Amino acid sequence: MKTIPIHDVSRLQGSAYHHAPAHPDDTLVGVGKGTQAGEYLRRYWHPIGVAAEVTSRPQMVRLLGEDLVLFRDKAGRPGLLYPRCMHRGTSLYFGRVEEEGIRCCYHGWLFSVEGHCLNQPCEPDGGQHRDTARQPWYPVEERYGLVFAYMGPPEKKPVLPRYDILEDLEEGEFIEVNGSGFAGFADDVKDPHVPYHWLQNWENIVDPYHVHVLHATFSGIQFAEGFKILPKVDFEPVESGVIYHAYREFEDGRSMDRINSALLPNISAIPDIDLAPGRGSWVGWHVAVDDTHFRGFFAARTRKPGRFAPFKMHNGKSWLELSEQERQDFPGDFEAQGGQGAITLHSEEHLATSDRGIGLLRRMMKKQIATVAEGGDPLGVHFHEEQALVKIRSGNFYTDPAPHETTTA
Ligand code: FES
Ligand SMILES: [Fe+2]
Repeated sequence: MKTIPIHDVSRLQGSAYHHAPAHPDDTLVGVGKGTQAGEYLRRYWHPIGVAAEVTSRPQMVRLLGEDLVLFRDKAGRPGLLYPRCMHRGTSLYFGRVEEEGIRCCYHGWLFSVEGHCLNQPCEPDGGQHRDTARQPWYPVEERYGLVFAYMGPPEKKPVLPRYDILEDLEEGEFIEVNGSGFAGFADDVKDPHVPYHWLQNWENIVDPYHVHVLHATFSGIQFAEGFKILPKVDFEPVESGVIYHAYREFEDGRSMDRINSALLPNISAIPDIDLAPGRGSWVGWHVAVDDTHFRGFFAARTRKPGRFAPFKMHNGKSWLELSEQERQDFPGDFEAQGGQGAITLHSEEHLATSDRGIGLLRRMMKKQIATVAEGGDPLGVHFHEEQALVKIRSGNFYTDPAPHETTTA
């Protein structure tokens, strides 16, 4: 029998035949009710829709693995209800919205946005016991042109946060929103439910190294020329999240500190990706739709509309216009993150020095998950309006000499 020479023994190692079965980190990946991470996520407000798109036409939405019906009553109040009518289970998706709420198509029970049953037309006196009937509901609030939902224990409902980036608008400024799922990176995605786990998208926020590789060298310049420079990076835990500083020295003598924030539970503040100088102007929410889908919502302060115009990924084409081969040759975030699978397999990762931000973020998240499991309140959750304001650090801060007006470095 032929034996392999001793100097070739490494050829016996690393075979995929010996590769152990891999699995996600169960502590991190749950989104459903009763899972550890799902209960933690339920302690925060999450965007559920773009306010202008929440109308008297009922729509089915999914958030944290729950299917719900979202509508706006004719008095202008948004409502989010469990969709199966409490009477005999017909979907309120087929209901009709009225001044006071939504009326089930089957036997006409009418529910307010808080689930109160206001009318049971087939019952004596319009329902003598209707006051005791309650369609399951969740609280919603509107802010920044988005509708937010709170799906946690009612007695633990926090104040809806305000973000300084989006407050105190100046003359001529307004807030533009986007709920199309990816916003700017694989945009034009008509289905806002992006088909992989939300954490893969959110962790990307604390990964400045991929910006150098994926977005500036591997696939050509997707954002700005300046990202070709491999940055020096510092990660810093902040009150309820992780920020990074990505320092770059440019050939013209300028240097830049790019500060980027990821805040619990799923929020981002990415500075301008053209490397334009100044404070960041947008806030993103990387929302868990279910175990294998997320939806991005973004709100930006701006002076001119079009902040979320289709982003040109390659050769003047937006993501939807790229062929399969072009996406393979010039991949972007969607390919890199989606390529990790519907739910990544944490057990077979090999986190390295460049993943310090991800390590920090995961440890912070796990600590909050444990805190919630023990009955405590997670970081970033407050119960008084005066605590609602969140200050976010985000921006491209150049040193002298003063930056050119051009947006690329
Ligand atoms: S099933 Fe809704 S009113 Fe009967
Ligand atoms: Fe990216």
